[in-house]
Amino acid sequence: MIPFSPPRVDQKIIDEVVDTLKSGWITTGPKTKKLEVLLSDYCGHKSTLCVNSGSGGLELMLMWYGVGPGDEVIIPAYTYTATANVIMHTGAKPIFVDVKDDFNIDVDEIRAAITPNTKVIMPVDIGGFPCDYDEINALVRDKDIQAMFEPKGKEQNALGRILILSDAAHSLGAEYKGAKSGSLTDVTVFSFHAVKNLTTSEGGAICLNLPKPFVNDELYKSLNIKSLHGQSKDALAKSQIGNWRYDVLEAGYKYNMTDIAAAMGLVEIQRYESDMLVKRKYIFDRYAVAFSKYKWAWVPTYETEDKKSSYHVFMLRIHGISEVRRDQVIDGIFKREVSVNVHFIPLPMMSFYSKLGYSIGDTPNAFINYSHEISLPVYYDLTDKQIDTVIKAVVDSVMEMHEK
Ligand SMILES: Cc1ncc(COP(=O)(O)O)c(C=O)c1O
Repeated sequence: MIPFSPPRVDQKIIDEVVDTLKSGWITTGPKTKKLEVLLSDYCGHKSTLCVNSGSGGLELMLMWYGVGPGDEVIIPAYTYTATANVIMHTGAKPIFVDVKDDFNIDVDEIRAAITPNTKVIMPVDIGGFPCDYDEINALVRDKDIQAMFEPKGKEQNALGRILILSDAAHSLGAEYKGAKSGSLTDVTVFSFHAVKNLTTSEGGAICLNLPKPFVNDELYKSLNIKSLHGQSKDALAKSQIGNWRYDVLEAGYKYNMTDIAAAMGLVEIQRYESDMLVKRKYIFDRYAVAFSKYKWAWVPTYETEDKKSSYHVFMLRIHGISEVRRDQVIDGIFKREVSVNVHFIPLPMMSFYSKLGYSIGDTPNAFINYSHEISLPVYYDLTDKQIDTVIKAVVDSVMEMHEK
């Protein structure tokens, strides 16, 4: 069976993890701090806080911005459940809006959904393709929209407008008008979960890029404290001579990244652009060329004049197919020993959210994208022969479905 997305774990990664295990320091320490610096350098934002998951990073930032009951956060209906669940944890209400043909949130739909209760917009770079960031950034600075904003608390008063918190779980290395994901909005959060382009097994990073009056380095320090039970010092600082005494400044959370996890990320970030992205683009290009020959294939857009994907998920759609028939094609592909996936079942279709009263009928494009979509394997170690096998399995399964 060709797997969907196994992690790249080679000798370099194993050596770096073993080095950490033998170093005597396995939780947050020098490797996490080094990874933070390398991420800021690579993406071009002001400051990075590594955390133990992308979900944790998003949640921490919603709480930092004082989001809570009575507030609304706008997200696409077409995303992974983490995007909405973290909003639920704060007591605020997720507002699902529809997406476009490129799978990403529709800016006109965002505009229509904004109310005085809107505190945050969380665009999601689905599959690694950047959202329309110029339009989204302009929207929250629009005079009328800014006048509608009702700030609560220190942070909301300081920003004076809706916060853009990008869910960039998929888009490390993606580009928008020459700038990297991480530097495109106020705050961006990456995921380093096991299936992501860069993995630390579980992990994530908060990229800070807030405008004045915020000082991102100062904010880094306070978020660092918030992410570790509000302690004035982390374990490493406390272990230094004469430094054992600490204070608790707030009832913080437990979101810190371990150095074992950071060790994996350290190896990968240094070869990410020159190696990982090159390989993933090669696989995308091979799929695109192969499927473009078929009228039934709806090949995803992953590069335009302004945007470059991180080549995270290859989201093929089949024209003129129903949800049931798409499922038959998926069965046929699995029968041919290739593991595929669907990104994503829209959240209003999930029992939890549908029981809350959300309806997929309100976001028709999300349903169209979902019901036509099949995600194909993309991972570093995928060989040319395996790419051929994937292409043949998809083509044969579509043919078989048409014969039925
Ligand atoms: C779109 C999206 N947002 C957020 C997350 C959450 O990331 P993590 O698993 O690191 O918490 C994921 C993870 O798959 C995701 O796909």
